[in-house]
Amino acid sequence: MSIVAQAPWWARGVIYQIYPRSFQDSNGDGVGDLAGIAARLDYVAGLGVDAIWLSPIFPSPMADFGYDVADYCGIEPMFGDFAAFDTLLADAHARGLKVLLDFVPNHTSDQHAWFRESRSARDNPKRDWYIWRDPAPDGGPPNNWISDFGGSSWEWDEASGQYYLHAFLKSQPDLNWRNPDLRAAMMDVLRFWLDRGVDGFRIDVLWHIVKAADLPDNPVNPDWTPNRTERDRLIQHHSTDQPEAHEIAAEFRALADQYGERVLIGEIFLPNDRHARWFGTVERPEVHMPFNFQLIENAWNAAVLRDVIADYEASLPAHGWPNWVFGSHDAPRIAARVGEPQARVAAMLLLTLRGTPTLYQGDEIGIGEVVIPADRVRDPQELRQPGLGIGRDRSRTPIPWDASPFAGFSTVEPWLPLNADWPTRNVAAQDRDPSSLLTLYRALLSLRRGQPALSIGDMVLVAGDDDVLAYERRHDDVRLLIVLNLGSQSRALILPADAIVMEVLASTLPARTLADVLAPDEGLVLRLASVR
Ligand code: NOJ
Repeated sequence: MSIVAQAPWWARGVIYQIYPRSFQDSNGDGVGDLAGIAARLDYVAGLGVDAIWLSPIFPSPMADFGYDVADYCGIEPMFGDFAAFDTLLADAHARGLKVLLDFVPNHTSDQHAWFRESRSARDNPKRDWYIWRDPAPDGGPPNNWISDFGGSSWEWDEASGQYYLHAFLKSQPDLNWRNPDLRAAMMDVLRFWLDRGVDGFRIDVLWHIVKAADLPDNPVNPDWTPNRTERDRLIQHHSTDQPEAHEIAAEFRALADQYGERVLIGEIFLPNDRHARWFGTVERPEVHMPFNFQLIENAWNAAVLRDVIADYEASLPAHGWPNWVFGSHDAPRIAARVGEPQARVAAMLLLTLRGTPTLYQGDEIGIGEVVIPADRVRDPQELRQPGLGIGRDRSRTPIPWDASPFAGFSTVEPWLPLNADWPTRNVAAQDRDPSSLLTLYRALLSLRRGQPALSIGDMVLVAGDDDVLAYERRHDDVRLLIVLNLGSQSRALILPADAIVMEVLASTLPARTLADVLAPDEGLVLRLASVR
C-alpha cells in the first residue's frame, strides 16, 4: 500500500525541533531543561505541529552540546531526570504530540564508560568498539582523513600507543559498527527508549556510521577553496555512505517496525541519487525519511528552487515519502538568510510543499541574525575554524518568550545571548498581533491540517521564473494553487490555463482579496475550481 493511502502520522504531520538548552529554563541556571519544555507544551501544541524532536538530552560533557553522549540510557542532570522525562513524554502525548529523540550512533563522548574501557588497554574487550589503528610507517596518522570540525580525524593515545578515529571533535571518538557486540549494545539503546514510549528518532549523521574496512585515504577535492572548511579539502568517499551502513539502517527499521507506527529520520547529506537509497527497498526498508536539507543548501531563487523540487521529487523511490527542512541548530536562521519579508514566504513554502516539514524553534517568530560577541562564542566548530562564518551559536540562542527580564527564558543571563530585538520580537508580542509571523505560522499549520491536499496531496509544479514559484497540490477533487513571489517587485498573477480561482485560503500579507496582481514578497494559497 502506498504511503498516501496509509497516511501515517509522520507523513501527514509537521515536526518541530526543540533545542533543549535554549527552549525554556525552569531552574534558573541559564540553560533550558525538560521541565521547561513541559511548561511550554501548550504553546507547542497550540502552534499546530504534530511531533517534537528533542536534540540530545543524554548525559554529556557538552563539548558539542549533547552530541557527545556519555550515556545513551540516561538523562543529563542539567536537563532533569527520568521523572522529568516521563512527565514530558506523558504531557506531550496527552496533547497529541509525538516525541522523537536524537540518536547519536556515530560517536560517543570520550567520557562514555565504553570509551574509557576501550582506551584502558589494547586487550580490553571493548577496544574494538571504537576504531583504533597503529600509526602510519612515518609515525603519523593512519590516513589523511579530516575531521568535520577541522584537523586530522585521528588522535594519538600515548598510553595505549595507537590512534583512534573521530569524525568530529577528538572528544567524540567514532564507534566501530563492524563490531557485533557494539551493534547489539546500540540496538539495546533503541529498545530502551522505544520501550519507554518514544515515537521515534532523528538519527545523527547516519551516513557516517560505517567506514571503508581498510580505511584508505580519501580523494582530494579539486574544487576546494580556502573560504571553505578544512573538511572539504577531501571528498569523504571512504569515510561515509558505505554499503554496510545501509544494512544497519535496515536493522534499525526492522526494530522500530516491531513497535508499531514509530518513525526513523536519518540526518544525511548526499546527492539525490545516493540520498534516496536511504529509504531502502520495499522488502528491506531503511529510514522512513532521510532528512532533506536542500532548502537550506540552495539559493533563495524561484528558478533554482523549482529545479531543486523537481529533481528531488524525481529521485524519490515509489515507496519514499518526501520531507523538507528549512532551519536547524546547525544552519543559519531562515530570516537571516532570506530577510524578514521573505521569511513569511518561506513559511508558506515549507508548509505547503509535498512532504513532511520540520520547523526549527524560533523560526516561527522570525529570529534573524544574532551577532555573538567573540567572548560568548560557544560552538566548538566556530572556535576551531573562526572567520569562515560557520558559527552555529547564532541559531541556538534562547527563545524570547516575553518582554520580562531575560525574555522569560530564564531568571539569569542565558548561556547564549538573546536576539537583540527580543524586547519586541518575542512570543507574547507576536501572540497578540494578528499580522505577526507567529500568527501566519499558526494559520498555515491549521490550513495544512485541515486540507489533505496540502498534507498528502499530489504536487505539480507550474511554470514560473526567477521570482515566482508556483505549484498545485491536489487531493480527490480539491485543487490548491500556491504562488510565491520571492522577489520585491509586484507581478502579474499568472494562472494555469484551466484554473478558475474560487477563494484565497491564505496570504502572507494581511487582508488579501482576489486580484490579478501578486504583491512584492507575497505568497498565496488559492483554492481553484474542482477538477472535473
Ligand atoms: C550533526 C549535529 O546536528 C551537529 O550539531 C553535531 O555537531 C554533529 N552531528 C556531530 O554529532
